[in-house]
Amino acid sequence: MKGNLYLIGFMGAGKSTAAERLGRLLCAAVFETDAEIAREAGMSIPEIFAREGEEGFRNRETEILRRAASYGGLIVSCGGGIVLREENVRLMKESGTVVWLTVSAAAVLSRTEGSGDRPLLAGKKSREEVEEMIKKRSPLYEAARDLEIATDGKDPETVAEEIRSYLHPER
Ligand code: S3P
Repeated sequence: MKGNLYLIGFMGAGKSTAAERLGRLLCAAVFETDAEIAREAGMSIPEIFAREGEEGFRNRETEILRRAASYGGLIVSCGGGIVLREENVRLMKESGTVVWLTVSAAAVLSRTEGSGDRPLLAGKKSREEVEEMIKKRSPLYEAARDLEIATDGKDPETVAEEIRSYLHPER
């Protein structure tokens, strides 16, 4: 694999699980931006948001992405807001292939139900609110992506297999 493979998309799109499956299929290492941020900060993502605000979190995110971009051959599972900064999009495009996992608001809500680790979805968002957030982000994901894969109704194995066959159509 030349460069990195970046998985982007809204919260609940299944980036982490697909990255893990893909890592196994391609024998490649997986790099989770959120996990690295939390590990380095010694705090959970909600704690970073609470103490440093979204701006502090985004600064950490760009720092971690720079590090991932300096390696090659990684599958990078990105936090959903990675596309909010132009610099991040440039870093990803310069250092690899970007795959956008799309997801509907209904699937976001059912996949993230009961997990309290996403500050931007805290406070029980309605389907309309999530739809609005997805609509705002979509042009950014679209501008960043080389490939787009719909995830609704698919298990992570299927999503990973679709990405693999795009990368290695001959196999
Ligand atoms: C965020 C998505 C989260 C995490 C943070 C902010 C976002 O990652 O980075 O809570 O702005 O969409 P996941 O997409 O892995 O949930």
